[in-house]
Amino acid sequence: MRVVVIGGSGHIGTYLIPRLIGAGHEVINVSRGQREPYTPHGAWQRVTTVVADRTAEEADGGFGQRIADLDGDVVIDLICFTEDSAKALADALAGRVRHFLHCGTIWVHGPSVQVPTTEDVKRAPFGEYGVRKAAIEAHLLERAHREGFPATIVHPGHITGPGWVPVNPAGNVNPEVFQQLAEGSEVALPNLGMETVQHVHADDVARLFMDALASPSTSIGESFHSVATTALTLRGYAEAVAGWFGRDARLSFLPWEEWRATVSEFDGRITYDHLLHSPHCSMEKAERLLGHRPRHTSLEAVSEAVERLVRDGVITP
Ligand SMILES: NC(=O)c1ccc[n+]([C@@H]2O[C@H](COP(=O)([O-])OP(=O)(O)OC[C@H]3O[C@@H](n4cnc5c(N)ncnc54)[C@H](OP(=O)(O)O)[C@@H]3O)[C@@H](O)[C@H]2O)c1
Repeated sequence: MRVVVIGGSGHIGTYLIPRLIGAGHEVINVSRGQREPYTPHGAWQRVTTVVADRTAEEADGGFGQRIADLDGDVVIDLICFTEDSAKALADALAGRVRHFLHCGTIWVHGPSVQVPTTEDVKRAPFGEYGVRKAAIEAHLLERAHREGFPATIVHPGHITGPGWVPVNPAGNVNPEVFQQLAEGSEVALPNLGMETVQHVHADDVARLFMDALASPSTSIGESFHSVATTALTLRGYAEAVAGWFGRDARLSFLPWEEWRATVSEFDGRITYDHLLHSPHCSMEKAERLLGHRPRHTSLEAVSEAVERLVRDGVITP
């Protein structure tokens, strides 16, 4: 099939594009041409790249038509962040594509209630990003169910892989936390370190897109989480990371407000977002409907990323 990927040169696309080519699809990647995949792959030589700036072209009202004109059987939209943007694209593609796959986020859920959280729970997102992504999901599913628009939604957790810094055991993306654990320095965690994070290897996200694409009759009109099958407590995560460097984690615990004062405003904000969500999403639906099981645990996904950070000199053991 002819598959158009919007935003395919980032975390997910690094793995998704080679998988699509490997499965025999004709692939068109639409991006601004600024980013390179994190890991090079020969498959890119067989990809057609269309340079387009979605933001600029949406402002002119021409982006949807531009994508429709690429005549894809399938469109995979990895970079949609507003309902208006989703609506304009769906308007342009209705009746023209066999399958439309949108990348959402587990942030469509608010703070975890009964875990593992399933895809069918009532949405209670907070924060602009999660609220907007939930509105996109609602819009696409409504269209799928009422008008037969062939939409599937994949909701990744904290996307992780070699080439970028994973969400760390303090719930932010400052590589210094990995460094401190690697050298045996004391690391302060917020509260009791019992809040959770839930990573997913970028290749498992790519695999879920492939599995959904292979089963349109079961995946259309549905949302699927894409996370490692279990979540990690910050404390357990910190202990595991220290263990990779042959150390026992030296942890201290501070009440939230005190802890926040020890880090930058930016790190504090990212950590707060992760703590308040404390995600623990279920992967049961993807297994039941698509036969999909993630290949990486959270720790396996993170360890691959950390190994690369060591190799790149970001972390010095
Ligand atoms: N990162 C996470 O942990 C995480 C977690 C949950 C959900 N998500 C979801 O994952 C999706 C993002 O996927 P990703 O992490 O693989 O993306 P990414 O690594 O941020 O890559 C973004 C891709 O989009 C292209 N792009 C960015 N701005 C563009 C524009 N204005 N016009 C055209 N192309 C543009 C980039 O290439 P150029 O720069 O060359 O244009 C690149 O190919 C989002 O829907 C996000 O909500 C991410």
